[in-house]
Amino acid sequence: MQIDCATAKPRLLYEILTAAVSPRPIAWVSTMGADASHNLAPFSFYNVFSAVPPVLGFATGYAGPDKSPKDTLANIRANGEFVVNMVDSRLIAAMNETSANLPYGQSEFERAGLAMSPSRIVTPPRVAEVRIAFECHRRDIIDLGGSALILGDILSVYLADDLMSEEGRVRLSSEEMDTIGRLGGDDYLGLNGLMRLARPLN
Ligand SMILES: Cc1cc2nc3c(=O)[nH]c(=O)nc-3n(C[C@H](O)[C@H](O)[C@H](O)COP(=O)(O)O)c2cc1C
Repeated sequence: MQIDCATAKPRLLYEILTAAVSPRPIAWVSTMGADASHNLAPFSFYNVFSAVPPVLGFATGYAGPDKSPKDTLANIRANGEFVVNMVDSRLIAAMNETSANLPYGQSEFERAGLAMSPSRIVTPPRVAEVRIAFECHRRDIIDLGGSALILGDILSVYLADDLMSEEGRVRLSSEEMDTIGRLGGDDYLGLNGLMRLARPLN
C-alpha cells in the first residue's frame, strides 16, 4: 500500500506518523502568562537538535482552524521563556492530567496536584517532582501550517543531585532516569514495558 500525503485525511496521517515515529520523548512544558498565570502541558513532537549550542524543539498544533494558539504557544510568543521538564514513569498520570484543555489562566499544576520549584534563569518554574529540566529561551518559532515548531536555546540544565556521582561526574543511567516515551494511540513505553493511559475528558 502507498499513501499519497497530498490527498490523505489529516487524522490518518496523524495516526500513521505518531505510531511509526515512536517512541518519542515528551516535553512537559511550563510557561507563564503576562497575568502571572502558570501553564503546564505535554508535547511529544519533541527532540533535541544540537548539543553545542544546546537547542531543542517541539511542535504545538493550533487550537483551531483559525490558527488560534494553544496556551503554551501564546505564552512563548509573548515572553520567550519556557522550561522543558522530563517525565519519568512515576509522573505519567500527572503528566496526562496536564494535557486537559483548561481555560487560559487556569493552572494545570493545581489540577494535577504538582508542586513548583523556581528556575535559575527563566521566570517559569519547573515541576518540583522531576529530576531533569531544561530552562529555555525561544530561538525561533516556525509556522508549519497546522502547527508551530518552537526552537529553544537551553540556558540551564537542572539535574537532581542523585543523578551525579560522588566524584561530581554526571551519571545518567537509563534505570535511574526512568524516562517514558510516547507511542501511537494511548500507549507509552517505559523500562517496565508498555503502559496505556487515555487522555482526560476534561
Ligand atoms: C503525551 C502527550 C503528548 C502530546 N503531544 C502533543 C504535541 O506534540 N503537540 C500538541 O499540539 N499537543 C500535544 N498534546 C496535547 C496537548 O498537551 C494539549 O493540547 C494541551 O491541552 C495543550 O495545553 P496548553 O493549551 O496549555 O498549551 C499531547 C498530549 C499528551 C498527553
